[in-house]
Amino acid sequence: MKSLVGDAETTAAPRETAGEVLAIRGGRPLTGRVEVKGAKNLATKAMVAALLGETASVLRDVPDISDVQVVRSLLEVHGVTVRDGDEVGSLRLDPSGAVSAHFEEIDAHAGASRIPILFCGPLLHLLGEALIPDLGGCRIGDRPINFHMDALRAFGAVVDKSYEGIRITAPNGLHGADIELPYPSVGATEQVLLTAVRARGVTELRNAAIEPEIMDLIAVLQKMGAIISYEPNRVILIEGVEKLRGYDHRCIFDRNEAASWACAALATDGDIFVGGARQQEMLTFLNVFRKAGGWFDVHEDGIRFRRDEALKPVMVETDVHPGFMTDWQQPLIVALTQAEGTSVVHETVYENRLGFTEALVQMGADIVVHPQGLASPDRRVPRRALEQAAVITGPTPLHGADVVVPDLRGGYSYLIAALAAEGESTVRNVGILRRGYEKLLDKLDALGADYDVIG
Ligand code: EPU
Repeated sequence: MKSLVGDAETTAAPRETAGEVLAIRGGRPLTGRVEVKGAKNLATKAMVAALLGETASVLRDVPDISDVQVVRSLLEVHGVTVRDGDEVGSLRLDPSGAVSAHFEEIDAHAGASRIPILFCGPLLHLLGEALIPDLGGCRIGDRPINFHMDALRAFGAVVDKSYEGIRITAPNGLHGADIELPYPSVGATEQVLLTAVRARGVTELRNAAIEPEIMDLIAVLQKMGAIISYEPNRVILIEGVEKLRGYDHRCIFDRNEAASWACAALATDGDIFVGGARQQEMLTFLNVFRKAGGWFDVHEDGIRFRRDEALKPVMVETDVHPGFMTDWQQPLIVALTQAEGTSVVHETVYENRLGFTEALVQMGADIVVHPQGLASPDRRVPRRALEQAAVITGPTPLHGADVVVPDLRGGYSYLIAALAAEGESTVRNVGILRRGYEKLLDKLDALGADYDVIG
């Protein structure tokens, strides 16, 4: 058996350009060590923040994922010079040549990403105009941008919609605002932060998201010269300043990826050391992991995950931080198919994030999705009538199937379901996973997965 603690990950040159279709022979435990780098959901935002500085910024531990490539090329389209930094995985971002871009250019580089929307505040400060083409991202619900637009209007921006996309201008500059979000949206909170730091006057943001990645973005902005404080009850105060400088920052680790590998250990009855994972940001996940029959051991350089005993059913509802993240439920559900009894997972953050379970049913899982939830919709999130609940009854042996990756987290869950299942599976569209999982195939190799790249 491979040593689980202290080994460096054995990775050859990245093979992430290959592998849209995998043939996976499952039924063997994933065992070994993987490293997680900086969080996708911080790195991409910190890269945008570099636009606000008068000098170059350096971002460290940037994951080599396609969402980062998208933001890199969007920054380059806007005249930012992006170079590899002084250490592996670091980027140097110099915004001194920033210029406006056209809808078509932005559209061509945005790919499936929703990141262009976060360029608004910095571009308005820098150039007085921001353009947003149609936005992509994972297909996990409507993913509207009304909170973003309302916040920008509160800062004094003017929003014009056209057939090409949305054009936002600030004819009289941007001023501090008093904003209460209808829901603690991660993206809208980032939008407010990236806009308020250089707006005239003070911004008070209520009902803000307080995810660790948001706190890390606040740390980035503070390094740049911003004045940001937070108070109890999701209140963030931002005092606008005239100038910001570049930053030097190491990204917070990717707790979504760490939770994904933890669930892979649970689902395949494996033993995985996740280098770079930290306990503090994963407390809620670790509680559920333990209740589901998982065992973990926290080390200075990571966390080791495996089963403790037979898997047990759990009741989980996804929520904003400090709740159980919506990005953690998909791989957990795969593990819960092997638990003795009935588990319930309520998805309350997105309205359509349990559709991926259909393929798990095809693989032998007993999962029933209740599109309206299990109780009165009034009991749950008041802002919308719809929420979904998945009832998972186990244990059910999983068998191989031919499945197509629908989105990032749902797709990862197919991968570990295929690795846990008896027989061979074909997993298509694996390229989507490169949006958020760095060196995925190398990590599968390090864990002893049995698969071939067939297309
Ligand atoms: N919402 C609105 N209006 C808005 C913005 C959001 O109604 O203007 C709703 C959304 O439809 C959703 C809820 O608010 O139902 C929460 O959305 P939020 O804005 O918090 O999500 P996001 O910023 O678009 C980020 C992550 C997601 C992660 C969520 C929740 C990035 C790039 N994406 O999305 O990550 O699930 O926060 O934590 O940071 C992923 O990594 O796979 C992923 C989807």
